[in-house]
Amino acid sequence: MSEYKSFNEESKNIYEKLNWQAQEIDRQKKEIDEKNEVINFQKNQINEYGVFIDDLLKMILHLLELRDPYTLGHSVRVAKIVRLIAEEVKVKIDIKDLQYGALLHDIGKIVVPDSILHKSSILSKAEKILIEQHTVLGYESVQSLRIPD
Ligand SMILES: [Fe+2]
Repeated sequence: MSEYKSFNEESKNIYEKLNWQAQEIDRQKKEIDEKNEVINFQKNQINEYGVFIDDLLKMILHLLELRDPYTLGHSVRVAKIVRLIAEEVKVKIDIKDLQYGALLHDIGKIVVPDSILHKSSILSKAEKILIEQHTVLGYESVQSLRIPD
């Protein structure tokens, strides 16, 4: 009789333990589902942010090309070449970041005066120095940009 009682007790304990474990699994599954929901939400936000950055970049490049039609498509071609080189030499930094840099490399031309930017004759020494400053101005314009991963 006491053996039977002990068996029942043990069964009851096992049942309670299994029941608790099942509840714990359910609780953890809900927690994982909630975390996945947050991760998916954040992924969507990042994707939307990435699309926004791409659109913003296109707009900036469009403005640059309006300012300097001579370089129409130049930044895009540079970005393609940068990508090819980066893939060939297997750089350890994100190729997309390099492409952003390539696309924006002439952004400093926006502030170069028309009389110099569109001059069809040979530039004077002073004009040459001024147009060469577009690289510094471009760097200063983009140096604080932080592109999300
Ligand atoms: Fe350029």
